[in-house]
Amino acid sequence: MPRELNRTKPENAKNPTTFPDPKPARFPMVHRTRFAPQWNPEAFGPVLGLIELGFWLNDYFGKNINMVELGSKGGESAMIFNAFPFVDVISCVDIWTWHPPKRAFEARLKPEIASREVIHHQLDSVAASTEPHYSQVCPFGDPDFVYVDADHSFESVLNDLDAWYPKLASGGLIGGHDYSNFWGEAKAAVDEFAVAKDLTINTFPDNSFVLTPA
Ligand SMILES: C[S@@+](CC[C@H](N)C(=O)[O-])C[C@H]1O[C@@H](n2cnc3c(N)ncnc32)[C@H](O)[C@@H]1O
Repeated sequence: MPRELNRTKPENAKNPTTFPDPKPARFPMVHRTRFAPQWNPEAFGPVLGLIELGFWLNDYFGKNINMVELGSKGGESAMIFNAFPFVDVISCVDIWTWHPPKRAFEARLKPEIASREVIHHQLDSVAASTEPHYSQVCPFGDPDFVYVDADHSFESVLNDLDAWYPKLASGGLIGGHDYSNFWGEAKAAVDEFAVAKDLTINTFPDNSFVLTPA
């Protein structure tokens, strides 16, 4: 049975505070993209897992969809989602407090931004779900799919899930990235939300997740 969210962070839920030293890339072409985390530029899981999620969503929906991505950074995951023909529009939301990723996003997706297949919206606050942001983020109406990859703190992931879940179109789904022990706070927030709302957690090889009705 669904219940109220418990917004107290579990004591054992921890995000990393340091990261492994970056290794030089043997394949510079794929360096510094989601294709590989900087500290392991030869790991292809982050892109293959997202492609698997794309095929899974295509099968699940069986129709074209409009989606929102919270946390788009340089547009790497957005580019992969956008490459699927069943994704009509992806609305990308970020606070872009650091400019290089925003410039990378705009350069990477220039034609798609021009054709309005990709919308990008810079938040001036973290209130992603409040008006008037919502109408700017979702000029197409309610999203079929929301992908949460923004601030990975327990509170923020729980807030993003809780704010966007009621905004989904009928039959819509919410999911996101970094459902892993490495990002313990993000994982704890997803676990809490799934239990409270009586949802099943489906996981993918890049640590993406999608919540479906139990
Ligand atoms: C992990 S990165 C996203 C990576 C991207 N999805 C990809 O796979 O290529 C997280 C991004 O979330 C953004 N962010 C942080 N807090 C946010 C918030 N409250 N709302 C929206 N974006 C936020 C950061 O600026 C950063 O660019």
